[in-house]
Amino acid sequence: MSAAVHRISIVGGNEFACPEDERVLIAMERCGFDDIGVGCRGGGCGFCRVRVVEGQYRTGKMSAEKISPEDRAAGYVLACRLYPLGDLMIEVD
Ligand code: FES
Repeated sequence: MSAAVHRISIVGGNEFACPEDERVLIAMERCGFDDIGVGCRGGGCGFCRVRVVEGQYRTGKMSAEKISPEDRAAGYVLACRLYPLGDLMIEVD
């Protein structure tokens, strides 16, 4: 069975599809968009920092230096460590 695919909408930007097992930043690049900053793609540089405004998600390991527990609670995530669990609305700083 293949993973569910969710719709990712960037506030004031593009929309693209992202399967549940793919990272949002990688799905964006695959679709040819550049709404979110791309750096290390490994959860360390913080270039891809965004805020999830709406929707369910899970994250892989993120640098605590780039995303503090307070940030996390406010919905800030690193898009290269972000997996959608439903359709997401994302705000880019
Ligand atoms: S691209 Fe470097 S933290 Fe996401």
